[in-house]
Amino acid sequence: MRVLLLGQGAREHCIAEALDSELYSFMKTRNPGIMELSKEYIISDLDFEKLGKFAQRINPDFIFIGPEGPLENGVVDHLTSLGIGCFGPTKSLARIETSKAFMRKLMEKYKVDGAPEFKVFSSTEGIKEYMRDVNDFVVKPDGLTGGKGVKVFGEHLKSIEEALGYSQELLRSHDFVVVEERLDGEEFSLQCISDGKHLAATVPVQDHKRAYEDDQGPNTGGMGSYSMKDHLLPFLKKRDVEKGEKITQDIMEALHKETGEYYKGVLYGGFILTKKGVKLLEYNARFGDPEVMNILPILKDNFAEICSAAVNQDLKNVEFEKKATVCKYVVPKGYPLNPVPGKLEITNTKAKVYYASVDLKEDGLYMTRSRAAAFVGIADTIDDAEKIAQNAVEKVKGDVFYRKDIGTERLLRKRVEHMKNLR
Ligand code: AMP
Ligand code: GLY
Repeated sequence: MRVLLLGQGAREHCIAEALDSELYSFMKTRNPGIMELSKEYIISDLDFEKLGKFAQRINPDFIFIGPEGPLENGVVDHLTSLGIGCFGPTKSLARIETSKAFMRKLMEKYKVDGAPEFKVFSSTEGIKEYMRDVNDFVVKPDGLTGGKGVKVFGEHLKSIEEALGYSQELLRSHDFVVVEERLDGEEFSLQCISDGKHLAATVPVQDHKRAYEDDQGPNTGGMGSYSMKDHLLPFLKKRDVEKGEKITQDIMEALHKETGEYYKGVLYGGFILTKKGVKLLEYNARFGDPEVMNILPILKDNFAEICSAAVNQDLKNVEFEKKATVCKYVVPKGYPLNPVPGKLEITNTKAKVYYASVDLKEDGLYMTRSRAAAFVGIADTIDDAEKIAQNAVEKVKGDVFYRKDIGTERLLRKRVEHMKNLR
């Protein structure tokens, strides 16, 4: 198959590898991993006309849209108008990620289970009263923020006054603010592939959003993630995963009823298991970064054929190897608040390596200001997978840090204890 890939992160490097096709790519920066896998590439900021011309010349079986930004900008609408099939939703459908107000209202309108108490505000009128009412709440801007816009009452917001101030600040740059019940539990990512009529679920994964060990420090794009050999998570039962799939199936159908369009791409639910069952925190309209790196390397089926089937609305179930996976990101010192760019050297390792925010210069590889490279261990046990990933990150040379605790038995036990205490 001939595929054009848009995007330049570790997520896209992993997608490029899994596509295993005649690959063409369009990247903002020079990702050495994607460059090596591509027959031809363009390095440029996203420019619809340039991308469209490239696509028309190549005439790919489909275009794979990696990140959410271009989806929000309507890249799929543009390419579809040129007659090119896209793996990724249109601008209107991508609102499931780009507008939390749209997502919550859709759940309400079509009675999709799993939403917390919530209310959408376009001004601060009534917001204080609602905050007092809910008592334990979070405040979310209505837009893309890379997972960093959500503030939790009692943690980031110390008083109702401070929460009101944050809402006012958000309303200056966003149309809506969502205030919702704070949920306590263990989070999991369930990435599903959709053709608009059928859904194919993948393996549940747990991400680690906090920068430092033991889930301390600021939120990041994700410092690492793991999945288990039994395709569950230590705190998760089969019925919980099935509940997540059912919610996503209902969302896919609601999206069709609401827009008349078919959703072709990834519906990634960010769920949380609470004492009241599985609840939905957010949807993403693309694969997770890092979570995609836990699933595509153990996919049994041909990935390009799966994507093509989704685009052509002929999607079947997909299968994964019974393996455990652990992914650890190496990031520049100071990330995410004051990252210090610098040189990066990666030596041979048993782990899979996916490049993220790096720049290949004449004298070597340089980090930029975001997550630099991801290392994935795959094995029969989570212990072994963790060791492979850990050995790899320890060998990296440069001013970097990573989370040692991801995928370790101690942290898994902590998750299970947390869930037990809640129940
Ligand atoms: P979102 O951008 O909606 O995924 O939120 C990012 C992160 O904020 C989630 O992964 C959660 O850790 C946290 N979060 C979002 N919504 C809630 C909620 N209702 N209760 C508790 N934490 C939340
Ligand atoms: N790892 C979280 C995300 O991709 O949104």
